[in-house]
This record gives sequence, C-alpha cells and structure tokens, in this order.
Amino acid sequence: MDRRNFLKMSAAATTLVAGSGVFLSACRRDLRSELMGSDHTPGGHAMEPLDKNGYKILYYASLAPSGHNSQPWFVKINSRLDWVIGSNLARCLKTVDDRNRETLLSLGAFVENLVQAAGKFGYAVETKVIAKDRFDPDVVKIHLSKSKAKDISLQRMVMRRTVKSHLQSKELRSSDVNDFSKSVDGHLFYFPRGTDHADFMNKAAVKNYMIQADNKKAREELAFWIRLKDSEAKKFRDGLTPDGMEITGLAGWYVRHFMDHKDVMTQAFNDKGIEKTREQVKEGAGWLVITSVGNTVKDLIETGRRFQRMALTARGKMIGIHPMTQTLEEKNGQKSIKENHGAGVMPQFMLRVGYLNKYPDPVSLRRPVQWFVRI
Ligand SMILES: Cc1cc2nc3c(=O)[nH]c(=O)nc-3n(C[C@H](O)[C@H](O)[C@H](O)COP(=O)(O)O)c2cc1C
Repeated sequence: MDRRNFLKMSAAATTLVAGSGVFLSACRRDLRSELMGSDHTPGGHAMEPLDKNGYKILYYASLAPSGHNSQPWFVKINSRLDWVIGSNLARCLKTVDDRNRETLLSLGAFVENLVQAAGKFGYAVETKVIAKDRFDPDVVKIHLSKSKAKDISLQRMVMRRTVKSHLQSKELRSSDVNDFSKSVDGHLFYFPRGTDHADFMNKAAVKNYMIQADNKKAREELAFWIRLKDSEAKKFRDGLTPDGMEITGLAGWYVRHFMDHKDVMTQAFNDKGIEKTREQVKEGAGWLVITSVGNTVKDLIETGRRFQRMALTARGKMIGIHPMTQTLEEKNGQKSIKENHGAGVMPQFMLRVGYLNKYPDPVSLRRPVQWFVRI
C-alpha cells in the first residue's frame, strides 16, 4: 500500500471507528433504486418502432436472473410487435459454461418474464425457438398480439432475487413442493436437508466450488464480472456487486473502498469464497433439482422459463432460492448428479432452498432497455 492509499485508509478507518457496522449498512445507498428507479417511468419510454408498452415489457423481462448477472441477452426489434431474443455471445461465460447451457437457461428466464409482463399489459405472446444450435445468436422469435389483460403480479418480478443466506432448515411443506412442481410441469426433485441425497449435494457443491477456485481461467472469468466499486457498477449495470455477493455491512464497505480486481485473484479471496460456500450449505431446507428430458436449445429455453416461474412462485411464498451451479459446470460433478437420476433425465438447476423470516430487497443491477435493444 502506498502512502496515499495508507492515508486514505486511515481516514476511512477513523470514520469507521466513529460509526458502527450497523450504522454503515443503514446508511448504504440503495444503488439499485438509485440507478434503476428512473429506467422505468410509469409511462415507459418509446424508442420507435418499440412503443411504451413494449419498452415496459422488456424492462420487466430484464429483471430475469442470469449466471454472474452477465445478462447475456439482446433484443432485435423488427417491428412494434415482432422481436427476436438473442444471446449476446460476448456476455457468455465461456469458461464455466463452455456449452452455452446457462446462457440459454437465462434467456429462458428472460422470455418467461417477458411473456408474463406482456400478459399484464394486454398482449398474448407467441414464442418460437429459431436457434439452430446453442451458439446461434438469434434464439427465440416473439410475436405479440392484443389480448385481454391478465391478472399477473409485476411486483413479484421486481421483488424476486437470489437469496444465499438466512435460509431456514425447516423442511418445505408438501403443498409448497407441489406448487413448485406444478410451476415446472413436474420436472422437479426435492431432497430435504439430512437426506443422503442432500448431504451428497452439499459435499458436491463445496468440492466443485473448490475445483473452480483452483482454476485460474474460471477465477479470471469471475473477476471479469465482479463490480467492486460503485463507479464500476454504475458504468456497467451488470455483474456481481458486493451487495449481490451478500458481502454487506463493514465487509462490504471495506471491499468497495479498498479492494480491486487483483485482490479477487488472490488466495485470500479464494479462501473466503470457499469458507462462505461451506457456511451456505449448512443452511436451508435442502435442495431442489430442476430437470429436463433433453438438452436441445428448446429444452433449455423451456427449462429456464420453468425455473423463473418457480422462482416467482417462491417469492410469493417467502422462500429463498440459491442456484449453485458449479457442480453442473464441472464434468465429474455433472456425472455424479446425473447418476442420482434415471436415464434420460438431465439435471439443469441445483437450487438451495429455504423459508425466510424476511425476504431481502433485491440489489443486483440491470442494464437499461436501450442498452440491449437493437433497432
Ligand atoms: C443459470 C444460472 C446459474 C446461476 N448460478 C449461480 C451460482 O452458481 N451461484 C450463485 O450464487 N448464483 C447463481 N445464479 C444467480 C445469479 O448470480 C443471479 O441471478 C444474478 O446475480 C442476478 O441476481 P438476482 O437473481 O438477485 O436478480 C445463477 C443464475 C442463473 C440464471
């Protein structure tokens, strides 16, 4: 640390002593509201040929989750009611998702939000998967037509988030598991905490996290999507912020002010991640696995849509969902999870799950619609 940095740090430390961790977190500006509040004015923005409703529908679509929050989508606006949802290959996770599986799952979640939001604004949506392979940039054709408005909660889309901590260990009620199962058309397994399967998945999650922590390329890819400083978060509006990684309070403040990309590549950062993963798997009501029967682009888009339907259902039930994907990204991990299912059943999501006392506010950022539409 040079003298300037040392002085900066001392001044900051003095401020810190004057306050407390609680004070710090209470004073933390809500970046998401600050940055995204003006994206979605009640009237929406028009960007010919996209009209205001179209803009609003795409805003809600963009609240979909994605691996590392890379938001790997673009939308071609061919006319007011004809769009193509595409995968932006520059935003794909080439190392950990080298077969573009997670990109397509994320696009599926985007399509699900789009269809639901369109329903709310009085449009029916026809969707057609047009990608010839997993790397075809044009993925789903969308046609909207005027229809009767549906009673759909947009608020659930706004308030849904990935939740990684404070998941209760109480087993999921069978009525909730049934509702989840319905939302994914039956492609679901629930392994409650304490069962052999759940223990196996806990161990696999930690082991495969460690394998990736040891893989320089995977770490570099993760570092590429980490936005430690508020200035980076504001500039890119994507990736993983300290809040998104649930590094909050004093630790979040420290990370935002004193760490940079070099630190993300250190052993200390790695060790912290492993420790956090070990702590995470000790919590929760077990694991949900969403499966598919095939592995085509269509299967993956459909599975992403199902996942998002389930995530929105979970939001309504105060249930937290945490995808832990490393096991499915590593060849041996994938094989071991597949062995726990019948032939022809592909595990596509491994999700830690649990009831919450309080559902935390969403924090991860999204790019404004005008950044991802192509007109
Ligand atoms: C296909 C997919 C894979 C994901 N894998 C992980 C994961 O391994 N670990 C994790 O903490 N979050 C994972 N997530 C959650 C994303 O990091 C999260 O959706 C993103 O940061 C946006 O945050 P939000 O869900 O709170 O809006 C995954 C999400 C998707 C859609």
